[in-house]
Amino acid sequence: MDEYDRREFIKTSIPGFLGVLMSLPTLCALGTRANACQGRLAADQPMHWEAFLEAVAKEAAKQHLDNWQQEEYLKKLAALTKNLYLEDPVITGAMTKVSERLKKGWVDFHDLEKRLDFAVCLLQFDVNEEINPHNHPGMTGMILCASGEIHTKNYDLYKSIEDETINGKHHGKCLLKQSSDVEMKKGDISTLTSKARNIHTLKAKQVTQLIDIFTPPYNKERSENSLWYELDERPMLGSQNIYEAVLKSDRS
Ligand SMILES: [Fe+2]
Repeated sequence: MDEYDRREFIKTSIPGFLGVLMSLPTLCALGTRANACQGRLAADQPMHWEAFLEAVAKEAAKQHLDNWQQEEYLKKLAALTKNLYLEDPVITGAMTKVSERLKKGWVDFHDLEKRLDFAVCLLQFDVNEEINPHNHPGMTGMILCASGEIHTKNYDLYKSIEDETINGKHHGKCLLKQSSDVEMKKGDISTLTSKARNIHTLKAKQVTQLIDIFTPPYNKERSENSLWYELDERPMLGSQNIYEAVLKSDRS
């Protein structure tokens, strides 16, 4: 066996030690991901942000499979989100940041994570602030009410009456069938898929913070294809849940 004097030991171990130090953040992240990916977290154990993201990424990657089931995916996302540790510094830090901007008086968006397969965003509404009815072309969405209280309604396209694009702007009319009408409170979840409940509107009753996950995320094409709707106040004559609506290209 070779013999090493003290100086030689120190000389050879310092680079190695520095290497280990430099690798620690990566090792920690890999460890967290391994915990999330291999299911070693107990079902009722709150998930920290990194573990949550990796678990979502694992599920969101399945959107590329032919047999991807959006409703099943949303159930898994909802279960993961119910377990998310909302006091994680990433979330509390973002919530504090948007709280400070509240005075400016608009629905505030703060990206928490944006990947090719999905995006997580924090939204904040002031009292009575609303987002008009709009769709999410080709997207699946899950919304968690993290604080406050908000009224949300979802719709499905029942019938397209006119739909044309002039100078890149959508014009037309359609009938929308209301599929849900819910008052969301802290911890409640609302979902939509590319085929069901895809159109929604939100109006806050209190200062409200939402965390949403869209799969896939908005990109230039999906943003440009998004439609906004102006609904009649009352359902069509003879119906309780079908509304006439005018198509628009923007939220104004
Ligand atoms: Fe939306």
